[in-house]
Amino acid sequence: MNNSVDNTVLIIGLGMIGGSIARGLKKAQPERKILACDSSVSALTQAQADGIVSEHGDLATLCPLADIIILAVPPLSVADVLADVCAHMKPTAVITDAASVKSHIFRDEQRFTENDMANFVPAHPIAGSERSGYCAAVDDLFQGRNVILTPHSGNSAVTVGAVNLLWRELGANVLGMTSVRHDEVLAATSHLPHLLAYAIVDVLVRQEQSEDIFRYAAGGFADFSRLASSDAKMWSDVFVANSSAVEKVLDDYIQSLLEFREVIRERDRESLKESFQRAKQTRENFISQHFQPKKQVEMTSNQRIFTVQPGGSVTGSIRVAGDKSISHRSIILASIANGKTRVSGFLEGEDALNTVAAFREMGVTIVGPENGELTIYGVGKLGLQAPRKPLYMGNSGTAMRLLAGLLAAQSFDSVLTGDESLNLRPMNRIAEPLREMGAIIETGEGGTPPLAITGCGLNGISYVMPMASAQVKSCLLLAGLYAEGETRIFEPAPCRDHTERMLQGFGYAVDVDSAQSSSSLAGGGQLAASEIDVPADISSAAFFLVAAAITPGSDLILRHVGINPTRIGVINILRDMGANIEASNERLVGGEPVADLRVRYQALSGITIAEDQIPLAIDEFPVLFIAAACAEGETLLRGAEELRVKESDRIDAMAQGLEQLGVKFETFDDGIKIVGGRLGGGSVDSFGDHRIAMAFAVAGLRAESPITIANCANVATSFPNFVELASEVGMLVTESE
Ligand code: S3P
Repeated sequence: MNNSVDNTVLIIGLGMIGGSIARGLKKAQPERKILACDSSVSALTQAQADGIVSEHGDLATLCPLADIIILAVPPLSVADVLADVCAHMKPTAVITDAASVKSHIFRDEQRFTENDMANFVPAHPIAGSERSGYCAAVDDLFQGRNVILTPHSGNSAVTVGAVNLLWRELGANVLGMTSVRHDEVLAATSHLPHLLAYAIVDVLVRQEQSEDIFRYAAGGFADFSRLASSDAKMWSDVFVANSSAVEKVLDDYIQSLLEFREVIRERDRESLKESFQRAKQTRENFISQHFQPKKQVEMTSNQRIFTVQPGGSVTGSIRVAGDKSISHRSIILASIANGKTRVSGFLEGEDALNTVAAFREMGVTIVGPENGELTIYGVGKLGLQAPRKPLYMGNSGTAMRLLAGLLAAQSFDSVLTGDESLNLRPMNRIAEPLREMGAIIETGEGGTPPLAITGCGLNGISYVMPMASAQVKSCLLLAGLYAEGETRIFEPAPCRDHTERMLQGFGYAVDVDSAQSSSSLAGGGQLAASEIDVPADISSAAFFLVAAAITPGSDLILRHVGINPTRIGVINILRDMGANIEASNERLVGGEPVADLRVRYQALSGITIAEDQIPLAIDEFPVLFIAAACAEGETLLRGAEELRVKESDRIDAMAQGLEQLGVKFETFDDGIKIVGGRLGGGSVDSFGDHRIAMAFAVAGLRAESPITIANCANVATSFPNFVELASEVGMLVTESE
């Protein structure tokens, strides 16, 4: 099923939502045939007179004629109408709806066969107004608005894809959620506000001086009560259909009102001011984040400050957030695979979430993440849709470089942008080899983002990378999936191989030749959906490995950590320094080796870091520098010029912070020499680099006075619950605005 003009659409319910769907679809494809059923003869006659609907009649007559059926009826009618539709429709027709409650539809599952269920992909457009009826319908109601699909286990990726395309045609941003999460979220964000609007009007009308109240009511009342003009029948359905989720959030609200009543009775001005201030701030953040997306770039530079008290302990057993590299790749490969891929352990950090948003923008339905779980409804290698706006990759070099490879080979054009840090990072390392493959790609001045990509056909190449970069290798392998012939990449030293492993997991043949240090694949194959369990990120675990290694008395277990041999430089280097790290329960999870790591304090000594460990520990150097500062003697790192082009110039950023703490060091173009000794306290800047921020938080364990770390907002890119976990093991870190 595609969205060709030949597909006849039947809309059941021609009110404001159904009418707007009809108008929008007709505007997008004027030739398309739209049929409608409704109890209102005037709505049907008007829609026909407007040239929107070509035929109307009863459901039994029209259903067999339709390829796409849209149920635009109130929530409590969906199941009944669906049963009716299933009895009459073509077996190949695809069905969706527009109701604002989801879980209740299948409560009575027995009434639907597996086939009925398979064809129905529930949807909820978050759009509308307090007006109702066909006369309120407009053709751009869904433009730029979110539509949430809540596919169920019986839906295939192809059916979900067809429904996604339909809503996309109406200009919507298509998101995905489980029906349970959808109903909880909507209870809070939509249903509760409607209830409050109805309630306030009701309360005022019952006051003795209600006439006066309404006569003198001003804009505040009009704003607040606007939702009470909504369709009464529809909204009573919503509350019945979603009663348990609404009840929960209503209880919280009642509690909050009771607390306000108490505070007001006590004339506690300070408490009131504090609550109002908090709410005002929350609302402003929400408006700037969700209603003015242009502010994205400034947002990432939001000040967040970590304050670390000296001392603290490191004990317990924790599981750190999911691996960032694997999380990005799981979205990318699952999106272009055929079928549904389930991912667990996904990193819900800003970087990986930007990758999710990018693929949603390209027409992929992604449900979640909810507690690290996602379902990706792959669209196949040729199924991505042209993005309607530049794809924002935030802080992530990995996302930008990997996507560039994939996008270079598409049949559409695209633009990739990022935040202030990403917009300074070198992109010629991918643009040049991609151009050798035939790609048309423009960078900003000096080879930095944005990247403007004109999709075209590519040829395979054999490429010797000048640096050991998994991002460059992965970018070219992704381009190679689409290229004519073989793409072979030679690496000067082993670097992370998650792309190769995951491609194999998706059934795509990759030839990894360790004797030649090359990876290659042939273009033209297909990827088959898979299951992915993302291990905990060794790069996040590294902060705790060092924390425990430098803190007397510590004994910490890090569970389920990815110990891919191309990532374990941090363990090797710490062990070389004398650290006591034991791996147990080693196992393979979805093609990636995983283990539990136990670290106990043991004094460290300075070393010369072996150059072959650099690509294997490339992200862990900031915190390794802290280990070096706490070790006995000197630690020398050379050959690590790549550190200068990460999220910050990590040699310089660490040097500036170490200087503040009174650590002795000498920097080189390609490294640093650190003399171990005492750590003072002071104020350091992370320069917006997540790993610099977390490294100095670890330093607090051995510092003699407090450390404050500025510019920590980007910790959320890779390790959103860092402060929480650090506190759990006994570190004395707090976070403030
Ligand atoms: C990554 C590769 C590394 C690493 C980055 C993630 C990846 O970059 O620094 O954080 O996921 O491929 P380079 O490959 O450019 O060194």
